[in-house]
Amino acid sequence: MRERLDWKGTNFVTDPLWGDNGKGKIVDLMAQEADIVVRVNGGPNAGHTVRNKQGEFALHLVPSGIFNPSALCVLADTVVVNPTALVDEINSLKKAGVTIDAGNLLISKRAHLIMPWHIERDKLKEIARGGNKIGTTGKGIGPVYSDRANREGLLVGNLLSPDFEQKFDRELLWQEKLTSLMVGNKIVYDKESILDDLNKAKDTIGPMITNVLPTIRHYHDSGMKVLGEAGQGFLLDLDRGGYPYVTSSHPGVQGFSLATGIAPKDVERVIGVTKVYTTRVGEGPLPTELLDEVGQEIRDKGKEYGATTGRPRRCGWLDIPALRYGTQSGGIDALVLTKLDVFDSFDKVAICVGYNVGGREYKLLPDADNEFMMSAKPILKILPGWNQDTSSCRSFGKLPENAKKFVKEVERLVNIPIQMVSVGPSREETIVRNF
Ligand code: GDP
Ligand code: IMO
Ligand code: MG
Repeated sequence: MRERLDWKGTNFVTDPLWGDNGKGKIVDLMAQEADIVVRVNGGPNAGHTVRNKQGEFALHLVPSGIFNPSALCVLADTVVVNPTALVDEINSLKKAGVTIDAGNLLISKRAHLIMPWHIERDKLKEIARGGNKIGTTGKGIGPVYSDRANREGLLVGNLLSPDFEQKFDRELLWQEKLTSLMVGNKIVYDKESILDDLNKAKDTIGPMITNVLPTIRHYHDSGMKVLGEAGQGFLLDLDRGGYPYVTSSHPGVQGFSLATGIAPKDVERVIGVTKVYTTRVGEGPLPTELLDEVGQEIRDKGKEYGATTGRPRRCGWLDIPALRYGTQSGGIDALVLTKLDVFDSFDKVAICVGYNVGGREYKLLPDADNEFMMSAKPILKILPGWNQDTSSCRSFGKLPENAKKFVKEVERLVNIPIQMVSVGPSREETIVRNF
């Protein structure tokens, strides 16, 4: 891999499918050149794994650009922040020798705070849904975003206001009523302990809280290197994913634009990170899901267990119709293909090139309709494996012929350039093609 990755302008790293495709790794790599790295959506439901010289980290809220001490990391307005979880994450990064202070991490004053009642409501809702549960991460995401849509709740900036305790009291009362209604008996939260936690969190994050929008704008307008980092993936988008089996935010270019105030047309490049196979964690259809030993083999070799909840991820062959949909609607114009090495010992591999639905063939998922996806029968194209180690390859030319053919076939099918290929979890285990 080239020592330095050249890129310019405003770039955004996202995920065209159901998340966990390696955004953290790619943001960490690109961030070495970035001036500012902005996490744009979601909250601690995300788990972004980064492996570099400083160690291996599962980041949930802190942007994956934090390992470049000269990049400014930002949590945008549209991120939801659990203040105690954020402080725990900051402290464990600091313990590992990572510099984090108000000089390199800013938190939007307009981001919503995830409070204990959001987590409680998330769990209660999932229980109430029974067999129709979504399989959320249990981090309070749906409830906090619904409070946001309802124009309720506490903002990060409220922590700094002189009348915070009054605001908090009003909110506590309201949330106690809501939760009591949900469970059918009176719920009382431990006010003192929650306030105590918030005050402790404020000691660390207080100096980082600010209006981040003018800063992001300034970096963008002066042509500095702005890097956006999405949480989740486009098939989990609240509106364009397979509702209701979705999250409550917007992982595509639309989400980047909402978070930063930068119009989609002003983004230099939207990078979609996708694996050589497809995974999903939680409920909802996964058209190419393999419920057999091949699915298990992918899970084992790819270590497909959630970085946030530890749940086993559901695995299937690479889903091209869904990838076409996610790249098209999510505004993606370049791809990074990760986990090529996971296929190193497979005799043959497959790609889902289309769906058969009711006798008709589809090359593109027309929209993320659950019934459609549930009835889709994958049309597979089988390709020979390469039975060779790729993890030590650092140039595309050095890859085994069949591995090159696989990458080129994916590129041909999606018709979007694959600009990088990842052959291992570490920052340097990357092949830069035409970035
Ligand atoms: P994210 O949510 O999109 O950031 O992805 P996750 O971190 O949840 O999941 C990706 C997993 O794959 C992590 O465990 C990474 O360390 C790992 N990973 C990323 N790229 C590669 C790769 O090319 N090869 C292998 N073997 N693992 C990778
Ligand atoms: P990263 O950023 C994969 C899934 C959950 C569930 C649905 C709703 O690591 O790619 P939520 O807790 O958001 O209300 O759960 O979305 N989900 C993810 N799946 N990767 C993620 O993030 C996810 N964040 C949420 O499993 O199905
Ligand atoms: Mg993840």
